[in-house]
Amino acid sequence: MVKPKGSILVADDEEHVRNLLQRVLSKMDYKVETACNGVEVLAQIKSHPFDLLIMDIRMPKKDGMETFKILRLDFPNLPIIMMTAFSTVETTLETMRLGAFDYLTKPFDISEVKMSVEKVFSSFFEKNELSSMDEKTANPPVKAFIGSSPLMQEVFKTIGRVSASDSSVLIQGESGTGKELVARTIHQYSNRKNKPFITINCGAIPEGILESEFFGHEKGAFTGAYQQKIGKFENAHGGTIFLDEIGEMSSSLQVKLLRVLQEREFERVGGNEKIVVDVRIIAATNKNLRQSILEKTFRPDLFYRLNVVSVLIPPLRERKEDIPLLAAHFRDKFCWKLGLKPKVISREALNALQSYNWPGNVRELENIMEHAIVMSSGQVILLEDLPLDLFNEHKTLFPEAAAKPKTLRTLIKALEKEAIVLTLQKTGGNKLKTAKLLDISRRALQYKIDEYGLENRVDSNEE
Ligand SMILES: Nc1ncnc2c1ncn2[C@@H]1O[C@H](COP(=O)(O)OP(=O)(O)OP(=O)(O)O)[C@@H](O)[C@H]1O
Ligand SMILES: [Mg+2]
Repeated sequence: MVKPKGSILVADDEEHVRNLLQRVLSKMDYKVETACNGVEVLAQIKSHPFDLLIMDIRMPKKDGMETFKILRLDFPNLPIIMMTAFSTVETTLETMRLGAFDYLTKPFDISEVKMSVEKVFSSFFEKNELSSMDEKTANPPVKAFIGSSPLMQEVFKTIGRVSASDSSVLIQGESGTGKELVARTIHQYSNRKNKPFITINCGAIPEGILESEFFGHEKGAFTGAYQQKIGKFENAHGGTIFLDEIGEMSSSLQVKLLRVLQEREFERVGGNEKIVVDVRIIAATNKNLRQSILEKTFRPDLFYRLNVVSVLIPPLRERKEDIPLLAAHFRDKFCWKLGLKPKVISREALNALQSYNWPGNVRELENIMEHAIVMSSGQVILLEDLPLDLFNEHKTLFPEAAAKPKTLRTLIKALEKEAIVLTLQKTGGNKLKTAKLLDISRRALQYKIDEYGLENRVDSNEE
């Protein structure tokens, strides 16, 4: 018998599903065991390790969701594929958000099951290849849309409610809040998911060619139109069109778009054949469109057409509870990408991340975590591994002084300590250079380093 490629636990209360998966997966050379409910799953996983769990959501005793939540805490590295016959978008989103590796709906397409399982194991192999020195590398990244704050829970619920419908959706939020991610998620959980998702960035395409980008053109429609071109609306037939930065669209195109939304048909530029399309429109903007309406740069009738369902993504600074989860998610993503061992985020660094204001929202956090992973040399991401301006902002004394009354002496001491820490950081822990920059003697500096317990910030190779 061939050596099994890995061990899989299949959990379902229906015998035929267990049998089917056992047969299929054994044939693929996996070692398969089965369980009938959540209690059995937990018992089996505690008794010996598995490489993958495939679990039904609806099961007696302990259901899949409950079991999943327990496993996420006790066995965070175990990839889990969830399955169900009762797919509501809410449960789907919830499982993906909690970090399921994949989600399968019954009755399944066996090739989809195979593909999903292979994906789990191929990521293991990549992972092992990346660090043959140490088996314990970071977790494989799981597809995830993260947010446990009440504000994001509302967003998830709206996504859940609208995915199944064909209603137009307008997503509003500052830059980097996840508008595109929301749009893709809505598409992914709609019954259009196997049809195209086509993005048009209304801000990036020059006005002159935008119309032809949208609707296509006939040969000879204008100078340079050497052949017929099919536009994005036609290409998206059956699927979703994502109109990004809709607030940048010119007023003439707004009129044309409105017509398509009303009549669901259009002509290619230079043509007169009526083309009927079935597309779902999702638009996004970081502008306040109501303001644009007042300023007469956006048509109110188009706004109401697009804004059938409105999704408002709050800026990150208004949902700081999400920062630790997001930071951990990006940390795992980049550790994984770079083939590094898992890292932990120090309390100090996390505090800095949490007190920062995040003008660039989640995208900025993502970039900063990448920077931190690259900068950190050990297993712990330190405050020093974060970019300096973030560090500075965090360390600025004014919030401290404002938050709680402090004596002047305490504040001055804190300032002194901060100045030394920052300068040591700038000089790479070099005492001589630090003393020079601060214009104090080396002895005075050493005294203060001892006083404030900063010896660990000093480059020990310097002496
Ligand atoms: N809740 C989230 N969970 C995980 N990743 C997120 C989340 N929100 C945003 N991201 C990630 O942050 C980055 C920025 O998100 P996205 O591109 O969707 O933002 P946007 O609102 O479209 O920004 P812009 O207005 O600049 O186009 C992406 O890499 C996205 O995957
Ligand atoms: Mg975007």
